[in-house]
Amino acid sequence: MKGAIDMSELLTVILAAGKGTRMKSDKIKVLHKVAGKAMLKHVISALDSLKTEIVCVVGHQKDEVKNEVNGSSINYVVQNKQLGTGHAVKQAESYIEKHSGPVVVLYGDIPLLRSETVQLFIEEHKNSYSDLTIMTAELDDPAGYGRIVKNSSNMVKEVVEEDDADFETRKITEINSGVYCFDSELLADFLKNMNNNNAQGEYYLTDAVEYASQKNKKIITYKIDDPEEILGVNTRFHLVRAEKILRKRTIEKHMDNGVTIIDPDNTYIDSEVEIGKDTIVYPFTYLEGSTKIGKNSIIGPHSRLVSAKIGENVELLSHSIIKESSVDDNTKVGPFAYLRPGCRIGSGCKVGDFVEMKKAVVGDTSKVPHLSYVGDAEIGERCNIGAGTIFANYDGKNKHKTKVEDDAFIGSNSVLVAPLKIGSGAKTGAGSVVTKDVEADTTVIGVPARVYKKKQD
Ligand code: UD1
Ligand code: CA
Repeated sequence: MKGAIDMSELLTVILAAGKGTRMKSDKIKVLHKVAGKAMLKHVISALDSLKTEIVCVVGHQKDEVKNEVNGSSINYVVQNKQLGTGHAVKQAESYIEKHSGPVVVLYGDIPLLRSETVQLFIEEHKNSYSDLTIMTAELDDPAGYGRIVKNSSNMVKEVVEEDDADFETRKITEINSGVYCFDSELLADFLKNMNNNNAQGEYYLTDAVEYASQKNKKIITYKIDDPEEILGVNTRFHLVRAEKILRKRTIEKHMDNGVTIIDPDNTYIDSEVEIGKDTIVYPFTYLEGSTKIGKNSIIGPHSRLVSAKIGENVELLSHSIIKESSVDDNTKVGPFAYLRPGCRIGSGCKVGDFVEMKKAVVGDTSKVPHLSYVGDAEIGERCNIGAGTIFANYDGKNKHKTKVEDDAFIGSNSVLVAPLKIGSGAKTGAGSVVTKDVEADTTVIGVPARVYKKKQD
């Protein structure tokens, strides 16, 4: 029965020390991203639902790995030389020796593994009282994986690596996924007795299987139904395959939640993105990072959102880019708008075509409808910023701020030279270059702008 087993006595060892030579990359393999998230983080997420202590074996770029994983309560051990998967697990020996429950070992390069699968796998291990449970899959093309070799009575005998396998062994289609659940004593014994007599001259973790069978330990396989889940990423080709599978999974999840994705084959959504129901996502749209979109919005086509927060009933029209910024309910953005990091757009606003903004706060129902640059600005409510307005925020050395207060009206083609404050209800004439603060309810015109009409007392 699900949940009946106490997972709190679990120890998990994740291997992430290898360089990943086959990736031909300066970055180590487990830091490569699948659907916007490092492979290793996907593996850690698959353990989220378990109560387990986690030890991660790091080596190459260990600081980068720790940085990326940052936040999760994980212990690290260092493997200075990458002498094989068995040798990697040995680095966690002190944790394994003092642990009495089962030990799960898995690799950091299997980003598609589902948490429900890991949970069922561990339950199977416990319910069957086995000493070693190996997660396996039946593959049409088993090339590259270790093969599960069984004896005449169908008991697991050993795992043979592709490089060490003869012609007949290579024909075996049941493969080792690289996810194991060990009795801790068995694993600790193996680590003391392993050797590197094989084609690669490495200490293979997979030799633990033969070790266990020679000791007459109970070994079972847990064959999973969906072999896609245990895809091990070794090359860029595998990376693309994983990306496609995860993207499909993510898009299906959103459709299940009531989101319309016009063309799932041409929409790119990172795994952490959240979307409210009845939102429509048009093709060639990229939703990345921690982007969150509310209900009933329209996004795209050809738009890119990076860690953006979008409210309800927002229309984000084609070819718009929003990075690390927020847009409140009922606002229209684009087409061809570019919101750079640090923008907060209120509700009922309009940010129109060919408008670029950076660190700009726009109050509710204000409009910046066409062809403007708005940088380091704070715009109040109900303002209108005319076509072609430039917030000149840079004097060649420093950036300065501009504040436009509520109900101000900025004429077309104005240049607002920061630092500057435009008072509430003030107006600038078309083409003015405003270099001095403008008082509330005052109209300025010209180059440089002068007072044309003062506030009526
Ligand atoms: C391994 C298995 C193979 C299995 C396959 C499943 C072994 C010997 N082989 O092969 O049976 O079918 O995974 O995907 O275990 N690592 C270290 N230190 C090392 C070596 C590797 O931390 O010294 C880490 C890597 O960072 C990686 C993981 O272990 O995350 C697996 O290593 P990899 O070289 O990809 O093993 P495979 O050849 O895929
Ligand atoms: Ca691998």
